[in-house]
Amino acid sequence: MIFFSKNAKETIKIGERIGVFLKKGDIVGIIGELGSGKTTLIKGIVKNFSKNYVFSPSFVIVNEYKGKIPIFHFDIYRIKNFDELIDIGWNDYINKGIILIEWAEKIKKNLPRNSIYVKIKVVDENKRIIEIKNLKRSKNDK
Ligand SMILES: Nc1ncnc2c1ncn2[C@@H]1O[C@H](COP(=O)(O)OP(=O)(O)OP(=O)(O)O)[C@@H](O)[C@H]1O
Ligand SMILES: [Mg+2]
Repeated sequence: MIFFSKNAKETIKIGERIGVFLKKGDIVGIIGELGSGKTTLIKGIVKNFSKNYVFSPSFVIVNEYKGKIPIFHFDIYRIKNFDELIDIGWNDYINKGIILIEWAEKIKKNLPRNSIYVKIKVVDENKRIIEIKNLKRSKNDK
């Protein structure tokens, strides 16, 4: 599935459309360069689940947003390897809710095979190509 976005608001809308398909236990890796819109997309995804304010967890590594399904928003920019993530309790988050990970490419080989990936490609200052991989599910299949 491929989307085109021409501003941050559209990226939030695309996030909302992705959010509708997600269920407890899903792991979504968001891949894209610095400032591409990973956190912005997550704001949209979270809208379907929680009213909590979404912000970048780059210093704390993980934010939790409470709601009908808890969302664990990871930003692993500062994490060196998967072991460091294990040390901060990664295994305790699995299957507790939906996990969204910025910079997921760093731990791709450690993530389950059925993880969903969203790639954000910067075209120019405001244009993005957003590609979703492995989301093999229909709206009613929850
Ligand atoms: N089409 C677009 N989609 C998303 N963000 C956009 C778009 N066009 C411009 N922007 C701007 O790009 C920035 C994206 O910031 P955001 O924090 O979401 O990126 P990020 O990928 O999470 O960054 P980081 O790598 O620091 O975590 C925002 O300032 C946003 O307004
Ligand atoms: Mg971010």
